[in-house]
Formats: sequence, structure tokens, C-alpha cells
Amino acid sequence: MTERATPQRSLDARYYTDPEVFRVEQEGLLARTWQFAVHASDIANPGDYAAFEIAGECLFAVRGRDGEVRCFYNVCQHRAHRLVQGTGNTRVVVCPYHAWTYELTGQFRAGPNTKSVTGFDGSKICLTEVSCEEFLGFVFVNLDPEAEPMETWFPNARAELEAFLPHWATLKPLEWIDIPERCNWKVSVENYSECYHCTLNHPTFATGVVKPDTYDIQPQGYCLRHTTECNDLSQMSYDINSGHALNDKYSSWFLWPMFSFQVYPGNLLNTYHWRATGHDTVTVCRGWYSVDGVESDIVRQMAVQDRETTVEEDIHLVESVQKGLMSRGYVPGPLVVDPKCGVNSEHSILHLQNWMRKAVDG
Ligand code: FES
Ligand SMILES: [Fe+2]
Repeated sequence: MTERATPQRSLDARYYTDPEVFRVEQEGLLARTWQFAVHASDIANPGDYAAFEIAGECLFAVRGRDGEVRCFYNVCQHRAHRLVQGTGNTRVVVCPYHAWTYELTGQFRAGPNTKSVTGFDGSKICLTEVSCEEFLGFVFVNLDPEAEPMETWFPNARAELEAFLPHWATLKPLEWIDIPERCNWKVSVENYSECYHCTLNHPTFATGVVKPDTYDIQPQGYCLRHTTECNDLSQMSYDINSGHALNDKYSSWFLWPMFSFQVYPGNLLNTYHWRATGHDTVTVCRGWYSVDGVESDIVRQMAVQDRETTVEEDIHLVESVQKGLMSRGYVPGPLVVDPKCGVNSEHSILHLQNWMRKAVDG
């Protein structure tokens, strides 16, 4: 590998500190990748809708009478008023400005006095739809009309997750925990995507959940796949058999650029969703799930443990890095890429930074 002769250096600080880089990412990367929108169980019934934002655009997802979820830009095709706010249920989409109505398929239905307009052809008016996919009950959208399906971006991730979560169709969110971090989203994503810092910084995770010596992260298309053996199960920080335990493995699937599925031993699903709120701020949303969304002491306990340990430990790391990236004294250092990979190697960062550089520089 050439990295040994000339070590690859970490990305220049400007990628994390320059508002112009963030603007380019908003218009390009975030509008051309698969982004999490809503959980399908939040729009379970025909007519249920939920508004959300991606790449600075307001959109909404709605379940049609045919049971299909569709996603649209949240803008009326008359004179551009916003159509829906928050969540709710409706028979048709009614614009609050002049009461034009749309079917749940996005098709224009009626508008006051439009019949008086010579040549008015409602059949040609439709809300602007965006590509969406349901991925194990998670609705993802891609603003790129030419987007390749998620299977092409993240080969085999769906099948692997289904094997880890045979009960996925029954899972619903039990708890969302928002964690604001004062750093660029890429600092947070990179921190998630290497375990070189785990043994020193995450004692609970490194002794109570995984065996760091066996931790590895490998690319699978634009998915970064984390695998590890778990610790002696008697050392686990929770009783894995009290939930819906079907296997005792830990695994994670990071879907570039801003979402990750993690399965803890005992089939405990939890997710990371990064929302970039500015060039130097990000909110990490941790999702925790249970069967039918029913109360679960184990899930609540894991969510609290994770918030108080791994998450808390990471906040200090990423915020310190962001400050350091602003320092005139910082010269990007070589990445520690071990040809044998493993927990003390940053090969995963090498892949991520290549994707990050490409997103900005083309
Ligand atoms: S802008 Fe929506 S009806 Fe006029
Ligand atoms: Fe960490």
C-alpha cells in the first residue's frame, strides 16, 4: 500500500471550519445522498403526514390510501405557500393560503374559482415528488431525481440488518435523544467511525459491550460496516436475554453521510442520525426502539447508560477537536492506517475523508 511510503494526511482544517464548504455540501452532498426522513410508524395510517427538513429544503412524507409512503417538497404549486406543518392526518392536502387542494398522491384536486380560468388544466399540476425508500421501517429520501437505489449505495446492508433484526417490522421508536455538539458534522461522523480512541475514552463500551481487540470497520459500498466480538457476556452491562434476544452479536452499519444503525447484543436496535445545523454545529439524534414501542426497562437503561458514558465522552472529544481545527498551530497529521486494519487503524477515516473531499471538490 502506498500509504506506508507517503502517509495520507488528515483533511485540511478548512473542510470543517469554512462556512463556504458547508454551503457547497448543503447544495451538493446533502441533496444527492440518502437522508433519513421519518420512521414509518410515525405515519402509520392513510393520510398521516410529517414535515421534515433536508439540505435546507422543507419536505413532507404522507401515507396514501394505497398504503404507500410518498415524499414531496412542502410547497404549493400555486404561489409557493408552505403546505403542512409538523405532523397530522388529513384526507387531502389543503394549502392554507388560497385553499388549493391536492390528493395524497400529490395530484391537484381543486381550487376556488380555477374553473373560471380559460385553459386551466388541473391534471397537469402536481406537487414535486422526491425519491423515497422504506428501509426496515425507516423512510429515507434522496433529492437527486437520478439517485441510485439504496441497495446500490449500501450493498447487502438491508439483508444483513434483516438477519440481525428478524423482528424489525415490529420495532417502533421508544426514545429519541437529541445531543447538540459544537463541531462540524464531519468531526462527529469521523469520531463515530473509528475505534482507535475507544479503549482510552470509552471504558464502559470497551469493557461492557465489545471486545476492542476484535473491532474492525470496513467499507461496503458507501456503508461502513463495524464488526466486533462481544465481551464475555457475563460482563455485559445489561441482561441480554431479557429482551428479544435472538443473537448475542454487536454490529453497526453507517450509511454515508449521516445515519447509522447499531445492533447491540440481544437484538437491541439503536440509531444515530446526524443533522448538520451549521458549519460548526451538529445535532446527533440517538434513537432507541422496542417491539411495538412498548415500555422496556432494558432499552431505557441502555439509552441512559449510553448518554451518560459513550455519548458524553464523545462530546468532549469532538468539541475539543473543533477548537483545535481553528488553531493556527494545527497541521493535519498522518492517518494511522495499518495494512492489517483492526481497532488501532484509521483506514475507515481514510475512506470517509476521500468521500468528504470528493463531495466538496468534485
Ligand atoms: S399558494 Fe397555495 S393556494 Fe395559493
Ligand atoms: Fe467515541
